[in-house]
Amino acid sequence: MSMDSPKTYTIKNYGCQMNVYDGERMAELFDAQGMTPADDKNDADIVVLNTCHIREKAAEKVYSEIGRLGKTSRSPGGPMIAVAGCVAQAEGSEISRRAPTVDIVVGPQAYHNLPQMIADVTSGKRAVDLDLPGLDKFSQLPQKRKTGASAFLTVQEGCDKFCTYCVVPYTRGAEVSRSWSALIDEAKALIEGGAKEITLLGQNVNAWTGEDDTGTMQGLDGLIRALDRLDGLKRIRYMTSHPNDMTEGLIAAHGDVEKLMPFLHLPVQSGSDRILKAMNRSHSRDSYLKILDRARSVRPDIALSGDFIVGFPGESDADFADTLSLVRAVGYAQAFSFKYSPRPGTPAADMDTQISTDIMDDRLQQLQSQLVADQSAFNSKMLGKTCEVLLERPGKLGNQLIGKSPWMQSVHVLAPDLTIGDIVHVEITDSGPLSLKGEPTMRAAA
Ligand code: SAH
Ligand code: SF4
Ligand code: F3S
Repeated sequence: MSMDSPKTYTIKNYGCQMNVYDGERMAELFDAQGMTPADDKNDADIVVLNTCHIREKAAEKVYSEIGRLGKTSRSPGGPMIAVAGCVAQAEGSEISRRAPTVDIVVGPQAYHNLPQMIADVTSGKRAVDLDLPGLDKFSQLPQKRKTGASAFLTVQEGCDKFCTYCVVPYTRGAEVSRSWSALIDEAKALIEGGAKEITLLGQNVNAWTGEDDTGTMQGLDGLIRALDRLDGLKRIRYMTSHPNDMTEGLIAAHGDVEKLMPFLHLPVQSGSDRILKAMNRSHSRDSYLKILDRARSVRPDIALSGDFIVGFPGESDADFADTLSLVRAVGYAQAFSFKYSPRPGTPAADMDTQISTDIMDDRLQQLQSQLVADQSAFNSKMLGKTCEVLLERPGKLGNQLIGKSPWMQSVHVLAPDLTIGDIVHVEITDSGPLSLKGEPTMRAAA
């Protein structure tokens, strides 16, 4: 059945920051076609579900959302539905079989083709594009960027690491780095559009490499140093890093690049060497801890963050105790922790030593109470101190703005005369596990 060409759109993002970035680029693509964001999210002509496949729960959300969109068969009056992102890549045409109301299935490297796919649907076809062409999309997306005070910039896509539990190498394809000049140009466009902070993104962001404009090979630290020289940019961050790509150069940058914020998100997953080996992480507990030591030696105030999986197949009480002891040794400023979720097609899903849900629940609870205690302790050390905060978005209360400290803490500020994009000095008056509150003392020099 043919459908009218959509004029309004809604994009719903799930999963990681890479999806947030992709969702922003899709919006720019739609805007360039003369479409507009729907005022009422429930009344858009096209709904894009930009999905995540990392854990079973994340993947299942998309099917309940498709159901909620309320079409039992493709009917005039219902929205056009596009499933994008990592579930699209992993499940492909299976999605249209399971959910016949879906019109478009488009993978994370193919969404620059959405305008053509929409045209196909309006002429009565169903459209599927799951090519993984690497970098094609970037050159075909609008060059002008919409941005807030803090912007994401994808520098690298894909993963070659093949951790045994993880779907990302299958959903995002092989590691590819965007070119130096494309990144410098996009960074300039973001700064022009008002960005004060840029967070460089990649599934393995520190695997980025490329030739600079003199033909010299650079790593992520070289790119960061070039961005540091751009006027108007105040802060640089990057995520997510893999321990094996944490070069001396990148660690050194934390010591001497002023705009590089004192924060390092470095997932470890487990504190047990036996489990790290079974996960194919190719770093050990010790080599990981040594990286953190080196980062702390060049930047003593650096805030550390990590990701953890509990209940990987074969994880014993002793293995889990190793994870808890690693957490206590590091003292994380924040962290993400998950129950292992078997993913179709990954080696770990076929291991015959799966751990029961009860044990996983218990371990997750123990781990999270340790992490929350550490996070609260880290935040409470800020009480009475003053730090710079980049104001990023309005808070729930009138006159309230929310921003980030250099250490990535959310800071709530009551500030009638301040605006988003300001960097202000804030005296911290209150601290909790998830955020800080403070009062502005003065505006930082522009
Ligand atoms: N590239 C990054 C993270 C990618 S996915 C890295 O290597 O660290 C984000 C996090 O999801 C991972 O760090 C891991 O903690 C978690 N994760 C990935 N696959 C998972 C699975 N099958 N079950 C539970 N958590 C998983
Ligand atoms: Fe997944 Fe491992 Fe690649 Fe991270 S490094 S994306 S956890 S396979
Ligand atoms: Fe999810 Fe894909 Fe990101 S699986 S975590 S959206 S790379």
